[in-house]
Amino acid sequence: MADSSISKFFEKSRKDRLDIIGNFANLSEEELNTLENVNGGISFDKADKMIENAIGTFSLPLGIATNFKINNKDYVVPMVIEEPSVIAAASKGAKVARIKGGFEVTADESYSIGQIQILNTDTNVAIKKIHEQTNEILELANSKSNTLSKMNKGAKEITCKEIDTPAGSMLIVELLIDVGDAMGANVTNTMCEAVSPLLEKITGGKALLRILSNYSTRRMVKAKAIFEKESVGGEAVVDNIILAFEFADNDVYRAVTHNKGIMNGIISVANAVGQDSRAIEAAANAYAAISGKYRSLSKWSKDDDGNLVGILEIPLSVGIVGGIANVHPVAKICAKILNVESAQELACVMTATGLAQNYSAIRALSTEGIQKGHMRLHARNLAAAAGATPDQIDQIVEKMVQANSISLDKAKELLHQI
Ligand code: MEV
Repeated sequence: MADSSISKFFEKSRKDRLDIIGNFANLSEEELNTLENVNGGISFDKADKMIENAIGTFSLPLGIATNFKINNKDYVVPMVIEEPSVIAAASKGAKVARIKGGFEVTADESYSIGQIQILNTDTNVAIKKIHEQTNEILELANSKSNTLSKMNKGAKEITCKEIDTPAGSMLIVELLIDVGDAMGANVTNTMCEAVSPLLEKITGGKALLRILSNYSTRRMVKAKAIFEKESVGGEAVVDNIILAFEFADNDVYRAVTHNKGIMNGIISVANAVGQDSRAIEAAANAYAAISGKYRSLSKWSKDDDGNLVGILEIPLSVGIVGGIANVHPVAKICAKILNVESAQELACVMTATGLAQNYSAIRALSTEGIQKGHMRLHARNLAAAAGATPDQIDQIVEKMVQANSISLDKAKELLHQI
């Protein structure tokens, strides 16, 4: 099995990086050519069919995080993000995690939740009648997807709840749908719309909204990793990281930033493989407030040997079939690089990336701060932008860091002196 701990990947040329990833993921010449030459990946014609009023396309950097071992399988993780340091931080977190075996991650089966809002009904009577006719409702819902039915998936359960609002009480009927390897928004909405006339007939009420809930609490993912005490930096650093976690867990201003760091990991993978990042963030933020208070999504503690233990549990709704994942040529190649066989496996990789990212952020914050590493990376970019060749970059970076002067002008000046 291929090993994702690729030494000094960041120092390699683009060509070497592509060769390494091409070998790791068995990419064809055509796929490598797409990565190298089709900047951003989609033609205007495709863009014009994806959204309304299109006038162009917009591309972002695509990079690879290395070192990931998740449930005993090695992954190189494609990440699309504009922010420096994020990919380096994910790779660093994964490198330390793999010393103790990597990430252990579990994911629920992919149940999506569809909601139908019923007004003007006697809720108790309506709920009883809905329960009596559950099979009929499920059958109608399932008639809308042959694909899911054939796989013995599809709508499986119906739950009802009453909510009290200033505008009166309402009945909310929820369809639980096993959407398999899809994200499932379309099929969920289709099923909700399909059953609502029947629900109106059964309840005598009026169906208003019929829509998927992005709060995907039936698609929970839980990642855990142990970060060896010595590699973290010793006992004091472990203790400081736990104090950093306590800060986030008990102060909403810090929690939002801490969780944003987790999202740096999760959303960059989501972008690379064409997932709905807005849905993912909305669900994660709701879950962060599940206790009634917005808190840290991750939990940090230490084990009996003093190693740092990180856990990240989030609702995560993703798919490997349908959506733009199957349309966008670069997203398709990223999925091949990631080599996941199910939506659950993709959710596991994304959650592990979030945890790795969080580790590196709070480790840096509770030691030297994030600016040092950040500025070094920034300096590399400036040296490259100034026209330095790969073997001149390190020299220029060192000089800029030593002089504590990191700017494009300084990089140009130093390049001139070489
Ligand atoms: C920056 O994009 C993310 C961090 O602010 C996260 C954090 O503070 O934990 C470094």
